[in-house]
Amino acid sequence: MTTTTIDDLDQTQVYSTKPATLLDFDPISFAEGFDRQPFLITHWLSEHPLFDLDRLLKLAQSLPENHIEYNAGNLPVNQDLKLTPRNGLSAEETIQRIRDCKSWMVLKWVETDPAYRALLDQCMAEIRPHSEPIRPGMKQAQGFIFITSPRSVTPYHIDHEHNFLLQIRGNKKIRLFDGHDESILSHQELEHFYGARSRNLVLKPENAERCWKYELEPGQGLHFPVTFPHWVENCDDVSISFSITFRTPDLERRRAVYIVNHRLRQWGLQPTPYGGRPARDDWKYLAYRATNKVRGMFSR
Ligand SMILES: [Fe+2]
Repeated sequence: MTTTTIDDLDQTQVYSTKPATLLDFDPISFAEGFDRQPFLITHWLSEHPLFDLDRLLKLAQSLPENHIEYNAGNLPVNQDLKLTPRNGLSAEETIQRIRDCKSWMVLKWVETDPAYRALLDQCMAEIRPHSEPIRPGMKQAQGFIFITSPRSVTPYHIDHEHNFLLQIRGNKKIRLFDGHDESILSHQELEHFYGARSRNLVLKPENAERCWKYELEPGQGLHFPVTFPHWVENCDDVSISFSITFRTPDLERRRAVYIVNHRLRQWGLQPTPYGGRPARDDWKYLAYRATNKVRGMFSR
């Protein structure tokens, strides 16, 4: 895989007047890459006032506690999520001191604030015409804002949504791995991810360099296919990134099959991996849905 830079992208456009569109991408790259491989896009959000630190502080103050996750930022690439060290500060202090406090923070589900909802909706409206022919049924659009100190690290992990990471401020180095390569990400790791809800993984030394390498600058964005493993390191400045995500119905089926396989493996069985026999996947999906329905009836 190759190191990619995007020096050739036009960085001259600035947010001096409200742009007609927020995102700009090559339709062919989108059609070829969406949910299959990473590709770069351009956006016009870098100077948007919703991403000023003062505005983000206000947003954090208005969000419920469970919408804010933060911790120390000087982490190793392989980090047990349960043992992630705290930074000893409040969420507000973390934002106010982000330049020096060596921390990592994410504000989750920012669309609960109407201003961020409008921004997210506009982004999704621009993506939808291109994603629908490939993965129809866009739903559950959600936004996450990462506010991180210089040199902080996001450990090696996977995510379960379609994702575009828009770099707003500072530079970020991203290592992104092919989630379709079973020597990098096994079915058992995916079963554990969906079944045990554990996002962090262990990057094997022999796989460390088998990745796409990007350095995102403000104005640039990157598409992460679903469950493609990655880890991230900030450069020498404070970084702010806006992650815009959504789901599609095919992801629910995939998740259900992996959860069923996780359970079967816990019972000592050797389940057919997801995708190995589509008819069997259908049965597992139906069984999962039926079980959940019955559970729902009894819990009412
Ligand atoms: Fe991620």
